[in-house]
Amino acid sequence: MDFINEIAALIKIDGADDRDVRTTVTVAADSAFGDYSLPCFRFAKTLKKPPAEIAAALQREISSDLPEFIERVDAAGGYLNFTLDKSFFARSVMNGIFEKGADYGASDDGAGRTVCIDFSSINIAKPFHIGHLGTTVIGAALCRIFKKLGYNVVGINHLGDFGTQFGKLITAYKLWGDRDDIERRGLRALADIYVRFHKEEEENPALVAVAREWFLKIERGDSEALELFGFFKDVTMKEVEKTYVRLGVSFDSYAGESFYSDKMQPVIDELRQKKLLTVSDGASIVDLSEYGMPPCLILRNDGASLYATRDLATIFYRKKAYGFDKCLYVVAYQQNLHFKQVFKVVELMGYPFYKDLIHVAYGMVSLEDGAMSTRKGNMVYLSDVLDKAKEKALKIIAEKSPDLKDAEDAAEAVGTGAVIFGALINNRIKDNVFSYDKILNFDGETGPYLQYTCARCNSVLEKAGVRISYDKIRGIEASFSDGTESFNSRHIAGGEAYELVKLLGKYPEILRSAMKNYEPSLVTRYLVDTAQSFNRFYIADKILDGDVSVKAARVVLTAAVMSVIKNGFEIIGVKPVERM
Ligand code: ARG
Repeated sequence: MDFINEIAALIKIDGADDRDVRTTVTVAADSAFGDYSLPCFRFAKTLKKPPAEIAAALQREISSDLPEFIERVDAAGGYLNFTLDKSFFARSVMNGIFEKGADYGASDDGAGRTVCIDFSSINIAKPFHIGHLGTTVIGAALCRIFKKLGYNVVGINHLGDFGTQFGKLITAYKLWGDRDDIERRGLRALADIYVRFHKEEEENPALVAVAREWFLKIERGDSEALELFGFFKDVTMKEVEKTYVRLGVSFDSYAGESFYSDKMQPVIDELRQKKLLTVSDGASIVDLSEYGMPPCLILRNDGASLYATRDLATIFYRKKAYGFDKCLYVVAYQQNLHFKQVFKVVELMGYPFYKDLIHVAYGMVSLEDGAMSTRKGNMVYLSDVLDKAKEKALKIIAEKSPDLKDAEDAAEAVGTGAVIFGALINNRIKDNVFSYDKILNFDGETGPYLQYTCARCNSVLEKAGVRISYDKIRGIEASFSDGTESFNSRHIAGGEAYELVKLLGKYPEILRSAMKNYEPSLVTRYLVDTAQSFNRFYIADKILDGDVSVKAARVVLTAAVMSVIKNGFEIIGVKPVERM
């Protein structure tokens, strides 16, 4: 049941249309005053009455014929506060969860609309390192959130597969490369020769010219250069794919920078034709000084295109190919200026859809023990992080539950889940210091804590030997070995149980605000709140004690918690664990 709509339908205000009223009703900020409220301030002008008077009049009117789902209506200052009937609300929330199952929280808000999400966007022949964790898991979560809300989503891995560094890599390969070694050790072998190039280049500057020559050969389509480049790309994709599988991430497109090689010229022509291009020191730029920004570089003085040129081409290509309503770029905040410049150029070109281009920035991950650099070769590979998290999880599991079957699988789910959850728990813009102890703390705001809670729900249900079913007419029923009991929501309409019900009822709203704010941490935070609330309920209300009708209601609530946690897990890409 959509309470906002139902409540709005009760409110009649002269001169305000239904939509106006509906968008003014909100979830109460403080539950001490009720569950929903209508701030009356914005109607004061139309009605020529003070807000408090409007609220009082509405209160009298609605109270005279209170519908079943409302316990009371109060006027307080300029607010009209609605308190739902607890039992009615609990029944409504539980029915929604069991009726919709994995689709609880889904909607068709986005029907007919397309969102492109540029995320992960790794670089060919470079390590897939911990710095990519944020974009990969935030982007993947946003893809799933938008999909759940009915949008058509295009997930794009904008591969970094263009640039002079590939000339360097080919040069290094021709000098010191060993194909077998690269096939065996993949990106690490490529990183080794790349690092060696940078070392030797200092003593032998002639290498730079050789590298430039190889890069030009790639550009011109020289077969040897392309064969080698293709080989590096295959090696990279094969290796990163394994990590993507572990993280549960996939893409609809891998069109990277090189894909736009032949799509930049029309954009450059258009910039020139619109008189936006100026030549400065031989380079072509768009002057942005009027907007307080350094110029956006379009062509270098040797005529080569730049990162921004390719991103401009990307935008027009995506608009044409997908007709997006929004195009998101999940990229670290270090690139704030780049995106501001590029979006500004689109605006100056006269395209109103510049407003639909959104840089979803996120903070840096640092390690407890210092920085990384590709050139120096001290990178922390994401696959190593996942391996280490798994290994540590296995140790913890061996201690906590030595007889667990499939401990290896559980450790993979817990370790990887901890890394994903750890990257999503804070507001995305915050810098993050990565720590294994923190993300694997079973009592913290962590993936393992959530998985543990999920396993606890499962164990309660197993111990109860209960099967829960839902039917539109009969409602929810709990079947035990000795009989079937109908769900009576009165038993969960107070205390810790009701706090939990209220949280479960919020899930659809949480997904919506996570979408609006491009903020998956709203989902992870919500899951932590829900797990904490369940654990309070678990301690306060001995779930399996007491009379069978009470027990039935509590196991139904437990199953609902498990179901909603699993929905949230699916969104953020963490796997549930049945036992641990
Ligand atoms: N490959 C780039 C990097 O590692 C990120 C690309 C982001 N996407 C884009 N369209 N610019 O920094």
